[in-house]
Amino acid sequence: MTVHFKQDEPDTRNLLDRGSQDIIGKALSRPEGLAKVTGTAPYAAEYHAEDTLTGVLVTAPFTKGTITGIDKKKALEMDGVVAVIDDMRMTVRPAQGGAGESPEQQPSHIDYFGQPFALVVATSFEKATHAAKHLPFSYEADDLGDIPLDPEDMETEEDDGNVRAGDLAHAMATAPHTVDLTYVTHGHASAAMEPHAALAEWDGDRLTVHASLQMPNFNISELSDALDLPEDKIRIISRYVGGGFGSKLGLSEEVTAAALAAMELKRPVRVVMSRQQVFQTIMRRSESKQRVRLAADGEGRLIGFGHEARVSNLPDEEFAEPVLQSSVFLYGGENRLMELEVGRIHQMTAGSVRAPGEAIGMPVLEAAMDCLAEEVGIDPVELRLRNIPEKDPSKGLPFTEHELADCLTKGAEAFGWEKGPRKPRQRREGEWWIGTGMASAARVHNVSEAKARVTLNGDGTARVQSDMTDIGTGTYAVLTQIAGEMLGLAPENVLVELGDTDFPRGPGSGGSWGAASIGSAVVIACQSIREKLADKAGIGEDQLDLRDGSLRDGSNRTLQDLLDGEPLSVEGHYEPGDISDDYTASSFGAFFAQVRVNRHTGETRVERMLGAFGFGRVLNAQTARSQCIGGMVWCIGSALTESLLFDPVDGHLANCDLAEYHVPVHRDVPDLEVIMLERNDPAASAVQAKGVGELGMCGGAGAIANAIYNACGARMFEFPMTPDKVL
Ligand code: MOS
Repeated sequence: MTVHFKQDEPDTRNLLDRGSQDIIGKALSRPEGLAKVTGTAPYAAEYHAEDTLTGVLVTAPFTKGTITGIDKKKALEMDGVVAVIDDMRMTVRPAQGGAGESPEQQPSHIDYFGQPFALVVATSFEKATHAAKHLPFSYEADDLGDIPLDPEDMETEEDDGNVRAGDLAHAMATAPHTVDLTYVTHGHASAAMEPHAALAEWDGDRLTVHASLQMPNFNISELSDALDLPEDKIRIISRYVGGGFGSKLGLSEEVTAAALAAMELKRPVRVVMSRQQVFQTIMRRSESKQRVRLAADGEGRLIGFGHEARVSNLPDEEFAEPVLQSSVFLYGGENRLMELEVGRIHQMTAGSVRAPGEAIGMPVLEAAMDCLAEEVGIDPVELRLRNIPEKDPSKGLPFTEHELADCLTKGAEAFGWEKGPRKPRQRREGEWWIGTGMASAARVHNVSEAKARVTLNGDGTARVQSDMTDIGTGTYAVLTQIAGEMLGLAPENVLVELGDTDFPRGPGSGGSWGAASIGSAVVIACQSIREKLADKAGIGEDQLDLRDGSLRDGSNRTLQDLLDGEPLSVEGHYEPGDISDDYTASSFGAFFAQVRVNRHTGETRVERMLGAFGFGRVLNAQTARSQCIGGMVWCIGSALTESLLFDPVDGHLANCDLAEYHVPVHRDVPDLEVIMLERNDPAASAVQAKGVGELGMCGGAGAIANAIYNACGARMFEFPMTPDKVL
């Protein structure tokens, strides 16, 4: 049976509080963790199938133009080559996960350097690699002089989320304190550890694809569209995903190409992208140019707030990095101008890379706020506190729980923030300038429709099933806890099975909506099972007090007794609707950082970093903390090193591996301190939790920029702040 629960029904029961196992919010290690770290958890490419062939993608060695011919006959003469696939159904512009439509396209039409246009299939990986490298093909490349590669030159279009209220220019001209600053941020790669990979099997009737994907619930529709094959003829399996960060929200060519090859050749086909292909082909976070204008009264209260951004994407792509997403509600100011423009540029698709929008919008805004605090002559924490609005200033909507003030105050206290106006260059140890900086964090909260099946077995164990994924975020652990809490079971008696489209449709992992959405579906299913159990026990559901598989009413009855060998199985269906019609919902936080900057080399080292975060109910203290830490590590990367570098001559990505694209390593990351506020948010989801996955990287690079200024007096207007810019 299926139980529906609509977020907008006046049903405010706190479902999760009805359980009494007392494991919600506690630390629980990931149940799949041991299998992952010991190499026994099979990733997409590691499944075994008899007679598997290997496909290697061939990518365009030029930026724009046409593939005019492939000499397949010659290719088939090469050792071990079985087929060359260049079917037009192969081309899918990658990785939007429903966030925007991509144009339909011929594989021969090349729009960016590294775009796949063919798959060479051979009897071994080595033979396929060799043949792909030597595939004879011809092409006509357009004259690069006509192709905008530089965001300065591109033609732009307006985005429709723009905000205009009052008269910002007037506010800027008349306010006692103003700043008007322009910043540049570079492109980012998702750089997940597991490369994009697929193993496709076709049994003549049904296609099974093991793939590394974040959203099988959506990817199955994409694949069905691409192949013109009904969804019930497709099964996608993504049980373990070695990181996604947005790059696996949508399908990319390894999946479609493997599927087409398997169907044509009637043998299993495995396609794994090389690290270089992942970097060149999958997608990027757009670079941006952002102008922030802030006008404040004598006390630092904003009367004008402008944030304008220009981002880029390929021609016809709908997605535009939503840089202003949190700016629109974060701070007050009656004269507002928030405009996003997207320009057309021939680099790989720009898509959702972890915390799309806030990841680059918040650091820039928060760096500008630091300049305003200096201009007004007040403490930067105090400046933020004075500008927290009562209601969403752009839409007039109430907020759900709003944790920003608490995060600022508690974070400042735990960090030992010295209150008051600040001056740079106050502390030096030998050749190192030392300074501190802070920034607010915000990340919009989303929830999505989700289904999960919960089965309470006759033996008193439970099973949870959904095609939801765990991309390293803790879904397996959190769902174990939710089912255990509701059904009175220790975690070891709950089995969670994910990432298989033969299970009920989950929400997928993306946009930090995963735990709150799928958790809500599980809690709804469990609540229905509780009602049935209460019936069997002859009591009201509100008296059902279960722990460790037994009723705690003195009767010594166990779940097995109540079930009498009959399992109970319920599909929970969570339909949140669009909560943004009624509320503005966001997770909030505050970052505090201490850096040292070398006065000779301009090298910056982050010495201490603390984040205080509020995201509704904490479901698992350990996995939530890990997400915050992961985000803060990315703050350090985007502040100091991460940058996609394109060759201005032919447009290829110059740093397309983890040796050249610099993510922080252990030596770059100090002990990171995380404070989590525990405050349930009833309007946010049925489990009263908001998103936490991406929150930890939404603003922290700004705290590091502000700390660099406080240390050495250099204001930073470009991210990453490499030593050449600091000097
Ligand atoms: Mo996230 S960048 O929406 O996976």
